[in-house]
This record gives sequence, structure tokens and C-alpha cells, in this order.
Amino acid sequence: MALDARAFTAFESSAHDRIAGSYSEHFAPLTSFAVMPLVEAARITPGRRVLDVATGPGVAAAAAKERGAVTTGVDVSAGMVALAQKTHPDIEFHVADVLALPFADGAFDAVLCNFALGHFPEPEAALAECVRVLAAGGMLAFSWWDHPDRQRVQGLFRETIAELELPPHPAVPEGHDTLRFSDPKAFAQLLRAAGLMEVAVTACRAFYMVPDADALWNIGMGGMAVTASAIAAQNTATQARARHVLARRAEAYRAAAGLQIPISYYIGAGRRS
Ligand SMILES: C[S@@+](CC[C@H](N)C(=O)[O-])C[C@H]1O[C@@H](n2cnc3c(N)ncnc32)[C@H](O)[C@@H]1O
Repeated sequence: MALDARAFTAFESSAHDRIAGSYSEHFAPLTSFAVMPLVEAARITPGRRVLDVATGPGVAAAAAKERGAVTTGVDVSAGMVALAQKTHPDIEFHVADVLALPFADGAFDAVLCNFALGHFPEPEAALAECVRVLAAGGMLAFSWWDHPDRQRVQGLFRETIAELELPPHPAVPEGHDTLRFSDPKAFAQLLRAAGLMEVAVTACRAFYMVPDADALWNIGMGGMAVTASAIAAQNTATQARARHVLARRAEAYRAAAGLQIPISYYIGAGRRS
């Protein structure tokens, strides 16, 4: 079935409205891993005009601001924008869809986007819109997750869902492949096709120390709007089974101080000519 872009974005918006608080508490510490590499790739220096697209609770926007940039953040979820604005009152945030950014052509020297690419129903159109608001010579830097075989937080949840044969949440529109840009060649091609020069896609690997399986459960259920919705839609008994399966699978990463979960993502960057 063809993807219904509007339905997908409506799902994204309401799902992130609902989880904004838990996302900020449990999942943003994970997405924060990519913030410094992203800010470096976008060559952010004091005074640069920076847009953080799909800002969520504003972690990347805050890092850009910290570097002295004149920073703006946008997100399609009003709940996320309210939270970001409350957390970072000195940054300007707006509710906006990446496909219709409310800014003039060339308004920014850098555009950042931390772990939202796979949430966009029309990634090529999203890239075109981000490039439109970028000034000549400006930098665009996006992060996206690696394949779940290497990005093990998502991998463990996906494998739990597969083991229990849970169906996707009925509100998740069919036809969207969140792993499309988990391939560095496809990611680079997306950036080049948007007209960017000097395109580089860099793999970043680390470990995320999680105290126990309960904390891992909270990270996924609190932050992964699409993937975790298959579990969230189940009754209490099935959710308890999912929790048990996740804990068993996570034992593969047992270390002295807890669970040492491999994480892996890409930073894709390019310059507008
Ligand atoms: C995984 S979160 C990433 C949040 C944040 N950038 C971070 O570093 O944690 C994905 C975000 O994309 C936003 N989003 C999804 N579709 C969007 C769209 N079409 N336009 C703008 N934001 C969108 C969601 O509301 C959510 O806040």
C-alpha cells in the first residue's frame, strides 16, 4: 500500500505529543550521543544562524545555542515544542512540518536534524525544503540510526516484537521503511540528490550503559513512537511478556555495571553550493 504522508505525519505528531515527557527523560539521553558530532559536521560557530529541524525536546538546538549560534527549532509536535520552549526559554521554537518550513529561502547558515529522517514520510521532499532555507555555502547535517543489527536498542525491541509476533499498531500507516537511510550509500545519495556538495556520511559507534532491563524498557517504550507502539497497543499480560523477552535478550550485553548496549548511527553532512 502506498504511504499516506498526511496520515503518517498526523501519527508522528500525536504520538510525540503523547510521549514528549518520557522521551525527554528516557530517550533524549540516547539521541544526545549524536549532538556533538552533528554540531561539528555543521561547522557551527558563534553568530551562525542555525535551524534544528524536528527538534523534539531541543537537545541539538541547545548545543548549537551553547556554541553561540542564533538558533531556531521546529517540530511538528506541539507537545514537543512546548517542552523544548519550557526547557530552553532563550531559544525560539515553532510548530512546523519539515515539508513547509515557515522561513525565507536562505534564512540559515546551518540546518541540523537529529534522528528524525526516518520519521519523514517524504524524505526527498524534506531534504529539498531544508536545502531551500539554507544560505549559499551553508552546511546541512543529519543523523540517522544504523541497521538494528548494530543499533541494538532498536534491535532488541524489534526482535522482541518479532518473537511475540506482535502486529504493527493499527494507527501506524503502512509502506514506510525507517531503515532506508540506515545504509550509508543511500544516505549519501539522498544528500547528493538534494544538490549538496562535499557530502560525507560517517559511521559513529559507542556503547550505552543502561543500569538494568527496566531502564532499557523505559527508554524504548518512552521514546520510540513507531517501533514501541506495537507493544504499547497490547494488553497488560502481553506487555509483561514483552518485557520479559526484552530482559532475556538484553542479557547478551550484561557487564559489571549493568547492560552495555552497542549503539551505532550515521552523520550525513553536505554543503550548499
Ligand atoms: C526521534 S525524535 C528526534 C527528536 C530530537 N531531534 C532529538 O534529538 O531527540 C523525532 C522527531 O521528529 C518529529 N517529526 C516527525 N515528523 C515530522 C515532520 N514531518 N516535521 C517536523 N518534525 C517531525 C517528531 O515530532 C519528533 O519530535
